[in-house]
Amino acid sequence: QPRVFSGIQPSGGLTLGNYLGAIRRFVDMQNDAQYDGIEKIYCMVDQHAITVWQDPATLTRNTRELAAGYIAAGLDPTKSILFNQSQVAEHAQLAWIFNCVARMGWMQRMTQWKDKAGKNQQNASLGLFAYPSLMAADILIYHATHVPVGEDQKQHVELTRDIAIKFNHDFGVDFFPVTEPVIEGAATRVMSLRDGSKKMSKSDPSDASRINMTDDADAISQKIRKARTDPDALPSEADGLAERPEARNLVNIYAALSDQSVDQVLADVGGKQFSEFKPMLSDLAVAKLAPISAEMARLMEAPDEIDAILRDGANRARAIAAPILQKTYDIVGMIR
Ligand code: TYM
Repeated sequence: QPRVFSGIQPSGGLTLGNYLGAIRRFVDMQNDAQYDGIEKIYCMVDQHAITVWQDPATLTRNTRELAAGYIAAGLDPTKSILFNQSQVAEHAQLAWIFNCVARMGWMQRMTQWKDKAGKNQQNASLGLFAYPSLMAADILIYHATHVPVGEDQKQHVELTRDIAIKFNHDFGVDFFPVTEPVIEGAATRVMSLRDGSKKMSKSDPSDASRINMTDDADAISQKIRKARTDPDALPSEADGLAERPEARNLVNIYAALSDQSVDQVLADVGGKQFSEFKPMLSDLAVAKLAPISAEMARLMEAPDEIDAILRDGANRARAIAAPILQKTYDIVGMIR
């Protein structure tokens, strides 16, 4: 039985990368007739966020703001299940079992671990190392089959498959499904505005490298105006972007925001200079993002209502997760 699950860390403000690579895809799947009758579960993964230090009051605020972002972007709590991870204890409970199935070497190979732990791995939290095991549990505690994510999470979803396969093999069962990452659209990897070789990230020290969902029109236009580019005019075909990462990034963003393919965009803007294209991109970004950030600000005025939505979502999520955990315990041989 197909089921959709995805999550985002409330570890800072939402970026355009999160929006185009993930949230917009969540909304598309929610509204796509192809997924009618299939449960869609979208989580705020607060337990993943604390694998690196989070100030408690900021974590609370970021979790609510992320929920507001989900809803403002079009997720409907009556159509999708929205909740924060820590309210459904089954995630952490299944993660423990997976910690005993997954191998140290698997975790060591993860590029996100290597990037985030940096040179001083000895000083990283144990949680950061085991991060992918909790992520596998997030997905498999619902027997989720489809996981919409950006390109950077592909390796983690593949590890989830490895964990499911090893669990099934070790216990001689056909219990956990083999999950598919859903990585689609023109913006599966939105890059930094300052450096076309780095992804746009909420943790980049330079605020000019990213567009935040809460940026106002002035900030958005200024960041796009200052975005790094090369001196050439835009090509009229996608091939012409191959060796031009900064140009490709801006065209990809334009395509994703305007719901067009890169080829369609280039058919219109091919031959234009950046001095002409950048204002077009700013206007489009402001037109698409301003209503979302205004709605986020409005929702943030009623934190109790956000909390009630998350509580209700958690109850619905737990109803799916609890029997799957019980069955897992039976398979492992734990008395209950
Ligand atoms: P996180 O919080 O870093 O990012 C959330 C989602 O946004 C996507 N994303 C991007 N997409 C395109 N371009 C970018 N520059 C960009 N930056 C971020 C990410 O690919 C992701 O889809 N480990 C996950 C959270 C997680 C999860 C899960 C996801 C925990 N459990 C279970 C799916 C299923 C993470 O750190 O995402």
